[in-house]
Amino acid sequence: MKIKEVLAELPDLETERLLLRKMGWQDVEDIFEYASIPAVSQYTTWEPHQSLEDSQRFLKATIEGYNQHEIACWGIIEKAGNKFIGACGFAEWRPDCARGEIGYVLSPKYWGNGYMREAVRAMMGFGFCPMQLNRIEGRCMVENTASARVMEKAGMKFEGVLRQHLFAKGIYHDVKMYSILRQEWIK
Ligand SMILES: CC(C)(COP(=O)(O)OP(=O)(O)OC[C@H]1O[C@@H](n2cnc3c(N)ncnc32)[C@H](O)[C@@H]1OP(=O)(O)O)[C@@H](O)C(=O)NCCC(=O)NCCS
Repeated sequence: MKIKEVLAELPDLETERLLLRKMGWQDVEDIFEYASIPAVSQYTTWEPHQSLEDSQRFLKATIEGYNQHEIACWGIIEKAGNKFIGACGFAEWRPDCARGEIGYVLSPKYWGNGYMREAVRAMMGFGFCPMQLNRIEGRCMVENTASARVMEKAGMKFEGVLRQHLFAKGIYHDVKMYSILRQEWIK
């Protein structure tokens, strides 16, 4: 499976309430709006965006990913309000093991509506079909209850805690590992 072939053009994915599409420069202020809120990056490896330049740097890297046909995030659009409300995507893809890892972030104004479960299910469809993965993983810091619930609700299984797995923001973090296998998805 060749990454650059599958990602020649990152396709739009549609769910009942969301559109996942490529990001563009027009999205920079919406990204800054949520990425600058400290609570959003409390359990992530990245720091809150201090200025629009931080969001521009993130967008530049994302757009470069699209152009290089590498894994890169989708922007999440709430269809009802046609509003850019977050991002999600594959953070890792190992074609040799048919394994990928997902990640996501949502604007706090939209938390608690089950949106990310929808986005995760759409990413799984992309992961198991065009990417032909056998296993999709997700990891979150043990304190990140909302993220753990999203993965559970999307059908992923809790596998255990990776002790002091991540070094971020000056300390080691215990991390929960979730996964779903192709055979479970097909069921
Ligand atoms: C993770 C994130 C996308 C979840 O978004 P969300 O809109 O709250 O997700 P959902 O509405 O689909 O589900 C959240 C679930 O967690 C539960 N939850 C949220 N915060 C909780 C808390 N502090 N304690 C216990 N449960 C909590 C909710 O009750 C809900 O469960 P339910 O549907 O059974 O009631 C969002 O919190 C976010 O963007 N966080 C910041 C970025 C981040 O941490 N990304 C993940 C990195 S691993």
